[in-house]
Amino acid sequence: MTVGLGPGESAFPGAEVCLRPGVSGAGVCRGPGCVGGRSASHRCVAATFAVGGPVRHTRGVTTDSARWQRYWDEHAGDYDRQMTAWDRRLVGDSRTWAVSRARGDVLEVAVGTGLNLPLYPEGTRLTGIDISSGMLDRARSRASQLGRDVALRQAGAERLPSPDASFDTVVCTFGLCAIPDHDAALGEMARVLRPGGRLILVDHVAGSSRVVRLLQRLLETVTVRQAGEHFLRRPFELLAGHGFDVVERERFKAGLVERLVATAGPVTSP
Ligand SMILES: C[S@@+](CC[C@H](N)C(=O)[O-])C[C@H]1O[C@@H](n2cnc3c(N)ncnc32)[C@H](O)[C@@H]1O
Repeated sequence: MTVGLGPGESAFPGAEVCLRPGVSGAGVCRGPGCVGGRSASHRCVAATFAVGGPVRHTRGVTTDSARWQRYWDEHAGDYDRQMTAWDRRLVGDSRTWAVSRARGDVLEVAVGTGLNLPLYPEGTRLTGIDISSGMLDRARSRASQLGRDVALRQAGAERLPSPDASFDTVVCTFGLCAIPDHDAALGEMARVLRPGGRLILVDHVAGSSRVVRLLQRLLETVTVRQAGEHFLRRPFELLAGHGFDVVERERFKAGLVERLVATAGPVTSP
């Protein structure tokens, strides 16, 4: 499935936005000047919205995005109840911690059902993306109940539908554990952040104890296949090579939760 913006709708002021009809189901734009959304003058929105088909990434990351997307669609109805219980037991004040550090134009990657939406400071302008339409439907209801204007779009984190340097803050809570190609996603987060912008990450990570890590490894044999959900990733380690400076970092609950703020360096051309 390929999802685009409405006719004449531009999420990216200042850039020519590619919304050509006839874009293939694989989301490949064949328009003149299109270089996959990365040129300064041409933003290929269509290519960034390719979701729902089986996708194979490079760098040894194997994905089955259709199956995982379906998983999140099917579990959207029960997500808030389950996650609120985990929030109470494990996560503590991490949502408030993360979101209170957001400023200006904010992109929330893998926004889910929008559990963070009520917590954003006044004056932040919010955009959220997620691969699951079921999760996004719930985020939309939440935003409308809150009376918050949030631009919510279906997109993969590995190809964000935004131009370079367009956000002051990128937030991702409990998303990197579920995004198949975390490296591509972090590269995209770096690309869309303005120089000096903040990346704020919270996630459940590999625990400090060897026994716990062993259990997490066993758990992953089921959850990665089922939902693309990883337990052994460490956002802090994954950031290496993406040009971020980590300015705040905490790890707690036997090392199972990690949260950090990093600042983006200058945008580099691909
Ligand atoms: C554990 S939930 C976290 C939701 C939300 N961030 C939160 O804090 O409650 C993981 C989310 O990642 C989304 N997701 C998984 N793979 C993704 C991808 N490649 N791009 C964007 N979102 C993705 C899922 O649809 C799901 O909403």
